[in-house]
Amino acid sequence: MRTPGALADAERWTAHNYHPLPVVIADAEGAWVTDVDGKRYLDFLSGYSALNFGHRHPGLVAAAHAQLDRLTLTSRAFVHDQFAEFCHRLADLCGKELVLPMNTGAEAVETGIKVARKWGYQVKGVPDGQAEIIVAADNFHGRTTTIISFSTDPDARNDFGPYTPGFTIVPYGDSDAIAAAITPNTVAVLLEPIQGEAGVLVPPAGYLAGVRQLCTDNNVLFIADEIQSGLGRTGKTFAIEHEGVVPDMYLLGKALGGGIVPVSAVAANKDVLGVLKPGEHGSTFGGNPLACAVGTAVVKLLETGEFQQRSAELGAKLHEGLNALVGRGVLAVRGRGLWAGVDIDSERMTGRQVSEKLAARGVLAKDTHGSTIRLAPPLTVTEADLDHALAQLAAIL
Ligand SMILES: Cc1ncc(COP(=O)(O)O)c(C=O)c1O
Repeated sequence: MRTPGALADAERWTAHNYHPLPVVIADAEGAWVTDVDGKRYLDFLSGYSALNFGHRHPGLVAAAHAQLDRLTLTSRAFVHDQFAEFCHRLADLCGKELVLPMNTGAEAVETGIKVARKWGYQVKGVPDGQAEIIVAADNFHGRTTTIISFSTDPDARNDFGPYTPGFTIVPYGDSDAIAAAITPNTVAVLLEPIQGEAGVLVPPAGYLAGVRQLCTDNNVLFIADEIQSGLGRTGKTFAIEHEGVVPDMYLLGKALGGGIVPVSAVAANKDVLGVLKPGEHGSTFGGNPLACAVGTAVVKLLETGEFQQRSAELGAKLHEGLNALVGRGVLAVRGRGLWAGVDIDSERMTGRQVSEKLAARGVLAKDTHGSTIRLAPPLTVTEADLDHALAQLAAIL
C-alpha cells in the first residue's frame, strides 16, 4: 500500500495519541529509512534516542536472531541463562551493585519511585505515607497515572486525575529551589540531567553537582532519569557525567533495547535497590531472555567507548553547523553530543512546519513545544550524512 492509503488506514483504526509526520516507513538500515513509496530519509530523531546504534545494527540483530532461535520468554518465575550476564555488565557500566530490568521507560521511572519511597520508610525512617519526591517543572518521565500526576504539561495531565500525591515541583536548573523544597520527609530528587521533551534543555553549569551535594547532605536519593540522555547520546555514557556527578539511582531505557525490543532498567547500590523483597515488585516481561540478550549486546557496544566518542566528535560538528544558522532563522541551539534542541524563529515557521519541510527534503526530525525542533541522529551517522541534514535545514531557513 502506498503512503496516502496507509495514512488513511492508520487514521481510521487508531486512537489519536500522536500527531505523526505523514511518512510511512517500510524498512531501514543504519541512519536511513525508506518509505512505502521507496523514498529514502535520513533519520534525525532515532526513535527519541531508542535507535542510538542505528536501525538494525548488525551485531544487535545477530544477538536477537541467535536468542530467538534458543529461548525468548520464561517469566521471572525461573532464572534463565541470559539474565545474570546482562545485569552484571549493566551494573558495571553504571558503577552500581544491582540492576532491576523492566521494559518501558515509564516502568523504570515507576520502579525508581517505588524503591525511593520504600527506602524512605525502611532506611531513612520517614513516617508511613509521608514520603515526598522533588521533581522539576517541564519534566518528561513517561505517561502512567502517577508520572503524569507531576507533569506540568496540560496535554499530558488534564482529565487524567485524580492524581498521585507526594511530589513537589520546583523550577528546573535552580538548586536553591530544591534546597528550599527539601523537608525531613523528602526521599528523592528525580531529574533528567538534560530535559529532552522540554526542548533539550541543558541546566546551568554546577546545577547537577549542587543537587548531588544537597542530596548527600540531607540523606535524599538523587535519581537520574537517563532514559533519553544516557547510553552515549551526549558524548558520554551518561549525561550526568559531564558534571562529574554520580547519582544514587540511574533510570535507563530506550537505547538499552538496541532499537529491537523494549528494555529498561534501574541501577543502584544494595543499600537502595536491596529494599525490594520477593513479591513486592515485578513484571512478566521484565528481563526476558530476548531483552537480556539484546541488552547485553548493547552494553558490550558501550563498553568500547566508540559510540560515546563518535557522539562527542560528530556532536561538535553538528553544533558548529547549527550555531552557524543562529541569526539566519535559528534563534538558539542547545544540547550536548549528537543531541540538539533548535529554536526556530517563530515569525518564520513553526517547528511542525520545519519538520514537514525537512521530511519533504528527506530528513526526519520532530518538533516539540511550538518552534523548537529536536535533532538526535543515530550515533552511527556519518559526517557526510550530518552535512547533508545541515544543508537541508539551511536551505529551508
Ligand atoms: C526522560 C524520559 N523518561 C521516561 C520516558 C518514558 O519512556 P517510555 O516512553 O519508554 O515509557 C521518556 C520517553 O520519552 C523520557 O524521555
